[in-house]
Amino acid sequence: MSKINKLISANCGVIRPDSVEDYVKAGGYEGLKKAFTMKPEEIIGEVKKAKLLGRGGAAYPAGSKWEQLLEIPEFPKYIVINADEGEPGTFKDKILLSQDPLRVIEGMTIAGYVFNSHDGYIYIRGEYRAIQKVFRSAIDNAVKAGYLGQNILGTGFAFHIHIMTGAGAYVCGENSALLNSIEGKAGRPRIKPPHLAEVGLFLMPTLVNNVESIANIPTIVLEGGEKYLSYGTKDSGGTKLVCLSGNVVNRGVYEIPFGVSLRDIIYDPELGGGIPNGKKLKFFHLGGQSGPIGSQAQLDTLYCYKALRNAGLSVGSGAVVVMDEDVCVIDYLKGVTEFFIHESCGKCTPCREGNKQIYAILCKLSEGQATQDDMAVLRRLIDTMTNASFCGLGQSATVALNTCWKLFKAEFEDHLNQKCPAQVCFTEQGRGE
Ligand SMILES: Cc1cc2nc3c(=O)[nH]c(=O)nc-3n(C[C@H](O)[C@H](O)[C@H](O)COP(=O)(O)O)c2cc1C
Ligand code: SF4
Repeated sequence: MSKINKLISANCGVIRPDSVEDYVKAGGYEGLKKAFTMKPEEIIGEVKKAKLLGRGGAAYPAGSKWEQLLEIPEFPKYIVINADEGEPGTFKDKILLSQDPLRVIEGMTIAGYVFNSHDGYIYIRGEYRAIQKVFRSAIDNAVKAGYLGQNILGTGFAFHIHIMTGAGAYVCGENSALLNSIEGKAGRPRIKPPHLAEVGLFLMPTLVNNVESIANIPTIVLEGGEKYLSYGTKDSGGTKLVCLSGNVVNRGVYEIPFGVSLRDIIYDPELGGGIPNGKKLKFFHLGGQSGPIGSQAQLDTLYCYKALRNAGLSVGSGAVVVMDEDVCVIDYLKGVTEFFIHESCGKCTPCREGNKQIYAILCKLSEGQATQDDMAVLRRLIDTMTNASFCGLGQSATVALNTCWKLFKAEFEDHLNQKCPAQVCFTEQGRGE
């Protein structure tokens, strides 16, 4: 049986991305037409039955988020789609935005109808400049064809989509920082509560969803929540776009039903196809730099929210970065920490200073100068940053380090004794000579 199920990526690479004609021929806009015959509560009921969990990384149940926003009596309400996609190793929203933008637009329009919202914003990362052009063209064509803008499909409902551009800061993917950035303020996270459903964009009630989350909405409305749920597992509805990269034969984006094993994702010829050059797997990094690291022993874990959580892993953004036996854990973690030093917005001390201190200790480890006292400081830094950082960036910056600490304790000890099993540190190359 195929391990791929193209529910939301079926049009990718098949139709002209900005052509309404192609999209409609492929079954597009049937979800919106059906949505117009339903009450907002009914649509939300289907999203709840579908057990769609947010695909942006936090896995918040979309149905509950929608229900909370529906109950708020203030207007205007705004629909905001997070297309910042700044998590390293994550490149799945890019595929939807560039190859099937009308699916994202249809999902946004359904959300607009549910919340009687007339304005939607999509925050597309600055690096996706060419994709923004395609998306703009898809919006214009949808307006011309009567699927967007004033009086959509003669229903009297109006919905407009505005494209906003990020400027390359990872923290702007955090939902409240993203809203600040759209408002023209510095892209720094807000204190919560109040939650964005109550006080969001321009201080009004706001829905923030990821691109992949919203791209699922037309399918859920059209096929019904139960059917959608049945494509995945009992607790994780539908499919997930996974991004395979690193030391794996077939890098790319694959839409898999929840419930496929990690082993299949990495080794199945239809998916990852294994590790190149006959090398052994050392570890895999799930959900981006802010996600956990897993080892060979966890390969039979099923890829779904519950099983991964039980194994100390997580889906996160859908990134699966594969590393072979030649990779040094300490060296890898140095790269992860450099990323967080670069991306910390500097607002709070645990994240701004903590990442730098962690990096300094990792450097000492890779140079054979670290001591057991440094390990105790490292432990305290992990705990302090996790508990005291202001936003998700600092809170999750140590997840990779923490999971490696547990899985590769011996490799930390080896480095304290000036040994690097992967022979990356303590060599001329490792010293940059
Ligand atoms: C530092 C940081 C970066 C984030 N980057 C993204 C991102 O690029 N795209 C995204 O959809 N969510 C990102 N998130 C998660 C968002 O805050 C939010 O949970 C998400 O957009 C909600 O959509 P969903 O419920 O559909 O997943 C990020 C969170 C943090 C803390
Ligand atoms: S944890 Fe603090 S310093 Fe780090 S990105 Fe968030 S607000 Fe900024």
